[in-house]
Amino acid sequence: MAKPIFVLSGPNLNLLGSREPEIYGTTTLDDIHQHLDQQAALSGDSVACYQSNMEGDLVNWIQKAGAEAKGIIINAGAYTHTSIAIADAISSIDIPLIEVHLSNIYQREEYRHHSYISPLAKGVICGFGAKSYYMALEALIADTASFS
Ligand code: DQA
Repeated sequence: MAKPIFVLSGPNLNLLGSREPEIYGTTTLDDIHQHLDQQAALSGDSVACYQSNMEGDLVNWIQKAGAEAKGIIINAGAYTHTSIAIADAISSIDIPLIEVHLSNIYQREEYRHHSYISPLAKGVICGFGAKSYYMALEALIADTASFS
């Protein structure tokens, strides 16, 4: 059985659909996860999707992914801009990771312009709403296929 791709979402992303829809859209995180599940199945891949508002949960899932997953898609929410613990966890593993954001963080407040994750990511996709996740999955599948 092929290793799954972990899809990790951080704080407040459980509120997608109702949270500031003018910025984040109206698609719920459940909708996104269902779409990713079907999208992955098209190429015989699978996703394992997790969301938490807790920084330590994200650290634990990153460590688990290092042992069990073929890659990670992560939207760390506000922890993107603050968390050295998440950056350290990513540095500790050796699988490709794609950072995603629904919004274009570079069009927003200055404090969202810095990411502790970007320097460690294979690539970054932001600004396409829910489609940022779908594009990241396509990119990760293509990237891992070309090396396997
Ligand atoms: C976000 C952007 C972050 O700055 C913000 O804190 C979020 C969501 C995005 O997906 O656009 O929670 O990661």
